[in-house]
Amino acid sequence: MRVIAIDGPAGSGKSTVARAVAAALALDYLDTGAMYRAVTFAAMRRGIDPEDTDLVAELARALSLEVADTVTVDGVDATIEIRSPEVTRAVSTVAANPAVRRELVQRQREWAAAHGGGVIEGRDIGSVVFPDATLKVYLTADDGERAMRRSKEMLNLQYDQVAADIARRDHADSTRQASPLGVADDAVRLDTTSRPVEQVVEEVLRLAAERRG
Ligand code: CDP
Ligand code: CDP
Repeated sequence: MRVIAIDGPAGSGKSTVARAVAAALALDYLDTGAMYRAVTFAAMRRGIDPEDTDLVAELARALSLEVADTVTVDGVDATIEIRSPEVTRAVSTVAANPAVRRELVQRQREWAAAHGGGVIEGRDIGSVVFPDATLKVYLTADDGERAMRRSKEMLNLQYDQVAADIARRDHADSTRQASPLGVADDAVRLDTTSRPVEQVVEEVLRLAAERRG
């Protein structure tokens, strides 16, 4: 099974690069962040406190979830809603819940088995979900650059607010007990700060070809 794992913090370019790499290699693409966002969205909609670990875990296990070009949560299209500032603010709390992680990691492995591998992006893909991935890439970029990229996408949020949100999420994701964000020993680190998307994609494709021998 050919799995290309792409990890890194918010705004490092994971989604953009992973999609392009998947298209070039005719592999399927999975955004695991969208899964954590979907559980967070479902909890908020049901009035469940994101801090209530037992209730949120129970919800994660029961939830019907489809993550593809659109994200469907219990039969409802939530593609837009899972990116809201409210969900973004609460998602790291839900993602720190070990029982939620166990459930979603299992679904991610099932997805890969059913799709014959794929390009999978997140925070713990190379370190925990697919330790035997064909290729592991860890994307980074300077804090200011990542906040600038994200604030261009969030037209109704100020740069300062986006930067503060990202810094808080980086900290929560890197310091949690369960599968913190980190670079796997055998991951290739790519700094995307002043590199155009095309150049990063080309580099990942070169590494992927190298791994194939
Ligand atoms: O796109 P962005 O970088 O804003 O975030 P995302 O990839 O949608 O992920 C949202 C949140 O989900 C992250 O801040 C993490 O808290 C969590 N996450 C995780 O814990 N593990 C993953 N494999 C993917 C996301
Ligand atoms: O998924 P992640 O949060 O890591 O990043 P993203 O959602 O792909 O967003 C990154 C944004 O920065 C997109 O608007 C890209 O066009 C842009 N960008 C990039 O991804 N990579 C570069 N090397 C330069 C810019």
